[in-house]
Amino acid sequence: MTPPDTLSALDAQTSLEALSEIAALINSVHDPEELLETVLEVAMQTLEAERGFVLLEDDESSQPFAVRTSRNFTDGQLDGVKPLSTSVVGEVLRSGEPVLVYEADTDERYGTTESVVLQKIQSIACVPLRLRNRQIGAIYLDSVTHRGRFTREHLPFLKAFAHQAAVAIENAQRVQTLRDENRHLRQEVQRVHGFDEIIGQSARMREVFETTSRVLDTDATVLIEGESGTGKELIARAVHYNGHRKAKPFVAIFCGSLPDELLESELFGHRKGAFTGAAADKKGLFETADGGTIFLDEVGDLSPKLQTALLRVLQLGEIKRVGDTETRRVDVRVLAATNRSLQELIEEGEFREDLYYRLNTIQIELPPLRLRHGDLPLLAHHFLDQFAKGNRAHIRGFTDEAMDALKRHRWPGNIRELENAIERAVVLARGDLITQDDLRLPHSEAEAPLPFEPGLPLKEIERRIVERTLEEHDGNVSATARALDVSRRWLHYRLKEWKEE
Ligand SMILES: Nc1ncnc2c1ncn2[C@@H]1O[C@H](COP(=O)(O)OP(=O)(O)OP(=O)(O)O)[C@@H](O)[C@H]1O
Ligand SMILES: [Mg+2]
Repeated sequence: MTPPDTLSALDAQTSLEALSEIAALINSVHDPEELLETVLEVAMQTLEAERGFVLLEDDESSQPFAVRTSRNFTDGQLDGVKPLSTSVVGEVLRSGEPVLVYEADTDERYGTTESVVLQKIQSIACVPLRLRNRQIGAIYLDSVTHRGRFTREHLPFLKAFAHQAAVAIENAQRVQTLRDENRHLRQEVQRVHGFDEIIGQSARMREVFETTSRVLDTDATVLIEGESGTGKELIARAVHYNGHRKAKPFVAIFCGSLPDELLESELFGHRKGAFTGAAADKKGLFETADGGTIFLDEVGDLSPKLQTALLRVLQLGEIKRVGDTETRRVDVRVLAATNRSLQELIEEGEFREDLYYRLNTIQIELPPLRLRHGDLPLLAHHFLDQFAKGNRAHIRGFTDEAMDALKRHRWPGNIRELENAIERAVVLARGDLITQDDLRLPHSEAEAPLPFEPGLPLKEIERRIVERTLEEHDGNVSATARALDVSRRWLHYRLKEWKEE
């Protein structure tokens, strides 16, 4: 929608229409700053003003009102208008009535005001922004080229417009306050579970926090499962640093990164001369972590030989350095993570079943981000707060389109991908809100495709629709059953059936 043409060309009827168009326009802007700019732009355009500013109540400075947005003024000129504000603007704020100045230089009330003379202002229109009986600010417009630019005929329009604007400004400020409060409350809730840096309030994440807090002060082995980037390491660290071993070391090792022999010596240490290059005795990570926690990342990548050695640590609490005959006792809590299904690996004969049961005393399954839609805005704002620092600190949020795009995206790389996307968007953003363009989400994925295409077996279509609905309800079975109008029992039965396929 564009603002209507200038008012001078409009009769009473069209000026009403103009007003209703303006109302629709300003009511569609919810960001307070953007709204003020729109209000000023519409006012200037409709009255053909050359310059203008909006004053609003100001809680932060000693002055009751401050200029919040302006057009075609340099900072110096705005300062120059301040003496004027004791006359025109001051009068408007005091009386709550609009003031029109037709020929500022000859108007005896203002003609001698320094700024009128210096800036050669010809006409001024200034209207109060009023709410019921409160004065929230004023809109100031002027012209340096035209005398009598603003006339008495403009007054009804100006008053009605200012009223609309005041209501819209107050609404936008309320929405903003609610948003801030909401964010604050969410952060409070966040703090309650004690894992400050792990964001999430979806049902699935609450389950994760619940299990995590139960295992903190135990020595139970925990298997953390989840797709890449879902926060497995974060949970492992939380378990250690919030538990009774926190004063002792936390040692993490990525089991997929090293050739087998090296990994073995890394984990268990070696004796001098055990292999070429073993120039001295060396202790392994299990000994380093003594009293603390070891985190075996991608545990599914361990070779059969190392699986056996690990089983021994878990069963007997002892290790043997490579090339050594002596066994050593270690007191280490083991946390393990995997993004592959260990059960599948067992079926393929790649992973020891007995080790699996040992590791799996407690299981924490981290949901993929696409099943945590409720958490997405929370995470997005969390990363925004983290990255929007220094000269990027003015970036305050996301446009509605950007947030929708974030929600639509499938996030194959999960939270890590989201984190990277927000970091990049913060660098690219030009305004105070991150736009959909700034996010640079790949297009094919930004639109979730329909879950089926013609020609698929009906059963497959059923499955996809159920899965999609489940995703939209954050994995909540009851809500999904309701949405699909089927019984929970039917849904459970189907899910189980598909899982076993
Ligand atoms: N719930 C969360 N709240 C805040 N940040 C999170 C959360 N989950 C993950 N992150 C962040 O996302 C990134 C990836 O997390 P992490 O390394 O723990 O994932 P991972 O599951 O170990 O991934 P991979 O399988 O690729 O090793 C990290 O920067 C982490 O801080
Ligand atoms: Mg990891």
